[in-house]
Amino acid sequence: MRCLLIPVLTLIPVLALSDGIPASEDATVGKTVYSQTCVACHGVNGKGTIPGVTDFTGKDSPLRKSDAELVNNISEGFQSPGSFMAMPPKGGNPALTEADVRAVLAYLRAEFGM
Ligand code: HEC
Repeated sequence: MRCLLIPVLTLIPVLALSDGIPASEDATVGKTVYSQTCVACHGVNGKGTIPGVTDFTGKDSPLRKSDAELVNNISEGFQSPGSFMAMPPKGGNPALTEADVRAVLAYLRAEFGM
């Protein structure tokens, strides 16, 4: 019976790409992605750990932008005019899927409030 479990588990990431994923599961994925890939630069509190990283919590937070724009900027990388440091594509982790990017964006909005 145990060997049946593995094919079932490998289906889960595929199902996660659909919109039907429960919010709580999405939040867990987002938190995991953030703590593994983003936290080094953006910090646990979202304010940024090094100069040049934008503060998610400030009044000029980039989280004011639309989901479409932010999903694109996280996936493709981003550098604002005059900035001396760029956001690397997918935070430097090419293994992230679009579902991961959406999940981590949802986490940013829930955690840092916009
Ligand atoms: C190597 C450091 C680094 C890592 C790792 C990193 N970022 Fe960034 N991020 C930056 C910098 C620097 C900026 C600001 C770029 C600018 O404004 O020129 C930024 C900006 C952003 C922005 C704002 C983009 C905009 O449109 O203004 C978002 C959203 C973001 N990062 C999300 C993430 C997420 C999600 C992850 C993890 C998957 C991540 N970052 C990982 C350095 C990093």
